Amino acid sequence: MSTASKNSKKSGNISNRKKDHLDICVNKDKYNVESSITSGFENIHFIHEAMPELNEENINTKITFLDHEIKLPLFISCMTGGSTGGLKVNTELAKAAQSAGIPVGLGSIRILFREPEYFEQFHIKPIAKDVPVLANIGSVQIRDIEHKLIYEMIKRLEVQAIVIHLNPGQEIFQPKGDRDFIGIFNAVSKFTDKSPVPVIVKETGFGIRASRIRQLLNTGVSYIDLAGAGGTNWITVESHRLTGEEAKIAKEFSSWGIPTAMLMDSIGSMDNRILASGGLRNGIDLAKSIALGAYMGGMALPFIREFKFSKKDGVIRRIGEIEKTLRAVMLLTGSHDIHQLRQTRFWRKPDFTESVKALKDAEILI
Ligand SMILES: Cc1cc2nc3c(=O)[nH]c(=O)nc-3n(C[C@H](O)[C@H](O)[C@H](O)COP(=O)(O)O)c2cc1C
Repeated sequence: MSTASKNSKKSGNISNRKKDHLDICVNKDKYNVESSITSGFENIHFIHEAMPELNEENINTKITFLDHEIKLPLFISCMTGGSTGGLKVNTELAKAAQSAGIPVGLGSIRILFREPEYFEQFHIKPIAKDVPVLANIGSVQIRDIEHKLIYEMIKRLEVQAIVIHLNPGQEIFQPKGDRDFIGIFNAVSKFTDKSPVPVIVKETGFGIRASRIRQLLNTGVSYIDLAGAGGTNWITVESHRLTGEEAKIAKEFSSWGIPTAMLMDSIGSMDNRILASGGLRNGIDLAKSIALGAYMGGMALPFIREFKFSKKDGVIRRIGEIEKTLRAVMLLTGSHDIHQLRQTRFWRKPDFTESVKALKDAEILI
């Protein structure tokens, strides 16, 4: 039996499972949790501007998101809550987000409908009072829990949006995970219709195909967070909690999913309603995702690993690094603000262009 599964005793208990996931994701010397394919950003190259008519001091990285002015087009992706240690993680991430002036996502609030005593772990608005806080729940729960109860919880949490995650890959490999995904789209659509806050739909590391994205946006979803392939692979994470044949099969999915940069390039900005995440690891990846059309970019694994070693200060330092890199890219591409960065020119490696074309052609057939 793997160490991680011994920890959880394969109980299916949400709190133990969350703790396992955190332990696996932060222990990078012991567990590989990242995709065996890249997110694809290495195929994008900015065109260097040797004579930028800019003063670095005047570069403006601010954007507006969910009626808040935020300092960077970056968010901390939804991660945790509902486990021992979850309060500490969420509190520290909330403090880091407030200090850096960027949005912060929470892990799934599903547990609150079974174990309401975890409420304080998710009620971080008083700490992150000036930035958007995003609650999170699985699409299966959107189908199975009465919407009125979820709306009430959203209001009590004082969040600015609800993020609905799609994770069939992880669920089918998770011991006691969900196996039935019928009716999810209709449930999300119905939920969105009466939601008290904007709805964001995200994947968790395998991406969402273009026609689904269009359908979701047409049904009233405000933003799509791609969470494409190239970063944390949740089937690989689950493989560390499995044994024998099950673990072997899970490992076969190490290259599953649509790489984030390819997906981003194939869909474009969709009227500024696309958030890019999944394998973004630094400010250059972030800048490239914006040049490809994303409204902003998000990261999960890099922040939770910083948290593990140096708590809130590590997360703030990492955000500072990303900001410095982003500002340098903006100067070196002659982009005064994020709007100009979105218009900036870049070139793609020919193989990448071919792959994006193949992806687009395949989508037309769906
Ligand atoms: C420790 C950890 C916990 C996560 N928990 C959730 C979750 O509760 N809900 C969710 O939508 N995504 C969750 N995710 C997925 C991330 O939000 C993100 O989509 C995914 O990890 C890909 O981004 P990355 O490559 O930057 O890690 C989690 C990720 C990590 C690393």
